[in-house]
Amino acid sequence: MAFSEPCERNKQPILDILVIELYRCSAALEVGSGTGQHAVHFAGGLPQVKWQPTDRIDELLALSARIMTEAPQNVQPPLQLDVCDKTWPGPFDAVFTANTLHIMSWDSVRHFFRGVGRVLDGCGLLCVYGPFLYAGVEMVSSNKAFDQWLRGRDPDSGIREFEDVNALAAEQGLALKVDHQMPANNQLLVWQREK
Ligand SMILES: C[S@@+](CC[C@H](N)C(=O)[O-])C[C@H]1O[C@@H](n2cnc3c(N)ncnc32)[C@H](O)[C@@H]1O
Repeated sequence: MAFSEPCERNKQPILDILVIELYRCSAALEVGSGTGQHAVHFAGGLPQVKWQPTDRIDELLALSARIMTEAPQNVQPPLQLDVCDKTWPGPFDAVFTANTLHIMSWDSVRHFFRGVGRVLDGCGLLCVYGPFLYAGVEMVSSNKAFDQWLRGRDPDSGIREFEDVNALAAEQGLALKVDHQMPANNQLLVWQREK
């Protein structure tokens, strides 16, 4: 079964925050679920949330294999979703994604925020986990090396600037609620839809 070591390390620190942030939520969409380790773990810790894992077609087989064997009952069967798709499943009162915005192209990041804007309920939450760059703050050496590695592999990818993604969120009526500093120089950004 497909397995991600970083996912195994970061799943509990992320869940510790989601338990607080998503305590009022009942339906969450996960974009770019990958191996499904997050979906299984988060749904286990958030039994009141119907968790909808998704990913692009290439990842769907591996994702479905884990969901079918390990997922608790509040995980829905995985759906195929590329952020550039015109139609997304929904509505949801939360959208979660981890380690995706630095993998996809900037154009896809724009599509991601537009898609979130279409499916997120009033007062819904958007939670995005991963590394980010901040204006005027020098990137730590590990993130610098990771960014160079990403761009060497695919020039369209790379660690995103917080101010740029925050501007895309604002276009969708999302206001930053909290920026959680996470282990290994990652962030868990939480936006909330303003009425
Ligand atoms: C580094 S993996 C992260 C997987 C998982 N979220 C995790 O944290 O372990 C990046 C994920 O983003 C997904 N992804 C990349 N481009 C995408 C797109 N355009 N639409 C949806 N998912 C995308 C990939 O298929 C992959 O599952």
